[in-house]
Amino acid sequence: DQGQPPRITVIGAGYLGATHAACMAALGFQVLGVDVDSERVDRLGRGEVPFHEPGLPELLSTQVAEGRLRFTTSLALAAEFGDTHFVCVGTPELPRGYGADLSQVVTVIEMLGPLLTRPCLVVGKSTVPVGTAEPLARRLAELSPVGEHARLAWNPEFLREGHGIQDTLRPDRLVFGVTDDVAERALRRVYAPLLADTPERPATPVVVCDLPTAELVKVAANAYLATRLSFVNLVADVCEASGADVVPLTRALGLDPRIGDRFLGAGLGYGGGCLPKDLRAFTARAEQLGAGRGVELLQAVDQINVERRSRTVALVREELGGEVTDARVAVLGAAFKPHSDDVRDSPALTVAADLHLHGARVAVHDPHALTNARRELPTVDYADSAYEAATGADIVLHLTEWPEYAALDPDRLRRLVRRPTLLDARNTLDRDHWTRAGWSVRSLGRPR
Ligand code: UGA
Repeated sequence: DQGQPPRITVIGAGYLGATHAACMAALGFQVLGVDVDSERVDRLGRGEVPFHEPGLPELLSTQVAEGRLRFTTSLALAAEFGDTHFVCVGTPELPRGYGADLSQVVTVIEMLGPLLTRPCLVVGKSTVPVGTAEPLARRLAELSPVGEHARLAWNPEFLREGHGIQDTLRPDRLVFGVTDDVAERALRRVYAPLLADTPERPATPVVVCDLPTAELVKVAANAYLATRLSFVNLVADVCEASGADVVPLTRALGLDPRIGDRFLGAGLGYGGGCLPKDLRAFTARAEQLGAGRGVELLQAVDQINVERRSRTVALVREELGGEVTDARVAVLGAAFKPHSDDVRDSPALTVAADLHLHGARVAVHDPHALTNARRELPTVDYADSAYEAATGADIVLHLTEWPEYAALDPDRLRRLVRRPTLLDARNTLDRDHWTRAGWSVRSLGRPR
């Protein structure tokens, strides 16, 4: 019925899916979230969010309480319920960086397809290598009882962990990868609330394109972001070697509007569940497609990023006089970035693990990621506060720039540590303040 708003399902209730489901409900749609993990489904169904995402517990529980958002493990129920099915399952890295594991996406299409008995739109949001969606669209039409009336579109997601709600409800752009006008119209109905100018929010720009372009926009965006960071980190290394300072340098770069000042923070480099794996998957795909020299560029981006971590460990060793065995190291931050409890490919935890491996006694603090960090790296010590982690330390490492670390009291910390040495691997602490309190401060990309 064209008069009724479309009913929405969101398949896969991880960071992306749970956020998307809650936001679509907040836009007024009836939404059914689907996940294979029954415990996760139960928790979400009670309005509980099983990960840290600012604002999401409030938003999601309200939508559940007001009856717009429910969760199930049943794809059959989803097929019955939905006019638009968003696919938000994971596409993790294959072992040794050989590309993306598409098994979850393929399974959803294989299982959902035969259940689709009325015209509908299946919308891929997961990040996939270019060339994935077209064969999936044909397969979906083959499997579904309504044939080509079960259409596949690709609508990549650009949300950042920690800013998921804002990025979903006020995206910079929407990309609609479609095969025909029917799919485009269906997407425009689903996103109608974001496509109109309102006093609070100008209309979101839409780019309509084919399926491979939509897949590639996402991958290219993340590969560009990774490249940008490795570029500033390369410059940071040159700064250190030449006595220049990367902080005023990036400020000056950022004032050029062609460059811009966002996503230019030099330091320990990028981690998380997206940038590293997407860059490597893109490298693998570009190689398959014969991109030649470009592959070397992407590999260098990855290498520069990985070396930030070993460089940090090397600096710690240098500060400790060449030997880390038995040294007490306080690590501030475990999450891959602030405002997230995600420790996937976390630079902070890699550094902590490496120092531990070399015999240091490592105490890690993080405001929200301790549970995940303990699971990922059970061998180091964990502290409930930054002050506790720093007690007796020979060196304090600032590895994830949580705002609470900028508010630490360097005088109080100085009285707790054994040696007042700080390594600020994120370049966000007020160096003068720490120096005045008697600390010796090292940074990545700044003179002593
Ligand atoms: C990233 C992209 O920014 C999103 O647009 C995309 O949707 C998402 O991946 C995804 O593919 O799902 P996210 O991984 O949540 O989002 O985090 P970012 O804010 O991009 O940060 C990535 C890493 O870069 C973090 O480790 C962060 O510490 C690091 N970073 C970021 C820097 O080292 N310097 C900066 O200036 C900014």
